[in-house]
Amino acid sequence: MTDQAQLLRNLVNQDSCIVPRTIAVTSGKGGVGKTNIAINLALTLIKLERKVALLDGDFGLANADLLLGVYPKYTLMDIVNGKRELSDIIVEGPLGLKVIAGGSGAYELANLGQMGLDRMISAALHIGQGLDFLIVDTSAGLARNVIRVIMAVKEVLVVATSEPSSIADAYGLIKTILQREPEKEIVIIANMVRSPNEGLLVWQKINLMTARFLRREVKYGGSVLFDHKVAAAVKAQQAFILAYPGSSASRSMQNVAENVLNKNYLSAEPITAGRNLSFGRDSFAT
Ligand SMILES: Nc1ncnc2c1ncn2[C@@H]1O[C@H](COP(=O)(O)OP(=O)(O)OP(=O)(O)O)[C@@H](O)[C@H]1O
Ligand SMILES: [Mg+2]
Repeated sequence: MTDQAQLLRNLVNQDSCIVPRTIAVTSGKGGVGKTNIAINLALTLIKLERKVALLDGDFGLANADLLLGVYPKYTLMDIVNGKRELSDIIVEGPLGLKVIAGGSGAYELANLGQMGLDRMISAALHIGQGLDFLIVDTSAGLARNVIRVIMAVKEVLVVATSEPSSIADAYGLIKTILQREPEKEIVIIANMVRSPNEGLLVWQKINLMTARFLRREVKYGGSVLFDHKVAAAVKAQQAFILAYPGSSASRSMQNVAENVLNKNYLSAEPITAGRNLSFGRDSFAT
């Protein structure tokens, strides 16, 4: 699988000088806020004057388009079938965000064979030219298609909440990723937390497990606070940073986006036998 991931990355890199940062937003457990974080991260990065595209990589059950209130006519499925070019399927979302739809509810898409999936991923990643970021929203869990998408991108944001099942499933996903690609850059984003400290704790718990059992630290990109405005924005089919820019979710999302932009991630102290992790940076704890 690693060889194929390398092949995909080579495909992406071969004909563009400026390669965007490709970032998957994923999770072990479903419903933890991936799609909301992917969309609002993408839009906040645009507000920070970056060029961004969002690929709805939740193949087979895509809904980022629904959450954005855009209605793509064609999907990646049309590329796989050879009916459309990539340029035909890109639709413009709010703030000029380029949105590539996965293909909602398409049974074939969720069950694509190896070759079809490779074609699809490489086609989507070819959008590269002129972009700073390609954010990929994935479905949850360890399904083959999800793992292949994760392998094809450079950076992985793993979203987790403070629920024990979310933390345990995040660890399971990270283990699977690192077994295939030990050097993969993995960053935890905590979501739906009541305070920044609760977010730090989510990361601390995951990091303790990865350090102890996988001998690998994972980084921390910050947290998005629990905020009822998120559900209200979802109902209105709007991104919360646009519908409620002053909300606590939007303000915490802004911090996360700046951390992603600057790769300002928190790391624990290097692994030592005694396992004394420290979390010192103020911006993450206030
Ligand atoms: N920060 C938050 N505060 C409050 N509610 C939130 C927050 N983030 C997400 N939610 C709620 O969780 C719901 C699920 O979010 P979302 O669809 O982004 O999750 P997901 O991980 O993409 O789910 P799936 O695994 O089904 O793709 C949202 O509709 C919203 O109501
Ligand atoms: Mg989703």
